[in-house]
Amino acid sequence: MSRHDAASRILGTGFYVPPRVVTNDELATMFDTSDEWIRQRSGITERRYADETDPPAAMAEKAARRAIEDAGLTVGDIDTILVATLSPDHDFPGTACFLQDRLGLNGCAAMDVRNQCTGLLYSLATADSFIRSGLARRVLVVGTEVHSTGLDFSDAGRDVTVLFGDGAAALVVGPTDDPDRGFLTHCLHADGSGARDLWLPSPGSSLFPNRAPLSMYEDRSIYPQMNGRSVFKHACTRLPQVIAEALEKTGYSLDDVDLLVPHQANLRINEMVAKLLKFPPDKVVHNIQKYGNTTAASIGIALHEAREDGRVSEGSLVMLAAFGSGYTWAASLVRF
Ligand code: UT7
Repeated sequence: MSRHDAASRILGTGFYVPPRVVTNDELATMFDTSDEWIRQRSGITERRYADETDPPAAMAEKAARRAIEDAGLTVGDIDTILVATLSPDHDFPGTACFLQDRLGLNGCAAMDVRNQCTGLLYSLATADSFIRSGLARRVLVVGTEVHSTGLDFSDAGRDVTVLFGDGAAALVVGPTDDPDRGFLTHCLHADGSGARDLWLPSPGSSLFPNRAPLSMYEDRSIYPQMNGRSVFKHACTRLPQVIAEALEKTGYSLDDVDLLVPHQANLRINEMVAKLLKFPPDKVVHNIQKYGNTTAASIGIALHEAREDGRVSEGSLVMLAAFGSGYTWAASLVRF
């Protein structure tokens, strides 16, 4: 098989979460919420918060080194870095450049992907396409998020704040000659008419004359705003659709799928998706209980844990699926 025909597969995975555990009870000391409300509505019991030693690029580096080691490679084998994040170290340059410098990989391609909850899946599709086209050979794909420094710890922001946590996940993607192994398909979608249902209004280059007006602290537009009910409803519609699309494109049925690894936004969303698809609940990976919603990192963390506990092994057919801000939604079907 020529290099241009090569498909790609996941060679290694790794993740890193900061050590500080923040329980629902701790949040309830800061604003009006309760452990019971958070667990009932989202399934979350705790999440991790980073400190100044763990900016997004530092967490990305820790996850990346683990994934590269898991792949049996060395850092120098990587020729392309893709970083998915909605919480970059700085507005520019991209976090992929900061990560590259930390890894000492200067000179290779480095690019950020700004697709929020589906960022990791858009990045994996990009990595797969780069490898198939011969543009890259070994791609480091990382999702990394520090949410905790940008959340509204007042009653006004409680609907969003309780959901999110910090963390990073990394995957190494490389070529395979086996046409039945690796990424079998990707389905990528977006509907920008829902952009303001989950977004961060300020600061922003659409604001004049000053992209970072002092008023953003007063009107709280510096914090994420969410129409939770609408996001919930769209997620429960789009996720089953995109999973069905990936199956139809590849000729597999749901019965063939060994494990569904969905984005961890809300335990109730993922339970509802399994119910709507009539998919066995025990074949759905959930770890939102421990980490909250880590956005671009969540699928990578869940996949790594599923590999660690033996739920994903050689030959497993795994469906990855995500819905989130944008709106964006995506699925990838992958054979390990
Ligand atoms: O990656 C994508 C990320 N986002 C999502 O997937 C979010 C999808 N949406 C959701 O998960 C749910 O909409 C939430 C969990 C965010 C909220 O659940 P809900 O059942 O839709 O609640 P709600 O927003 O309709 O609010 C119900 C009540 C309200 O009080 P009243 O008006 O009934 O008196 C809220 O003010 O719950 C109140 N509330 C809270 N109470 C305690 C909202 N947030 C909280 C809170 N603690 N943290």
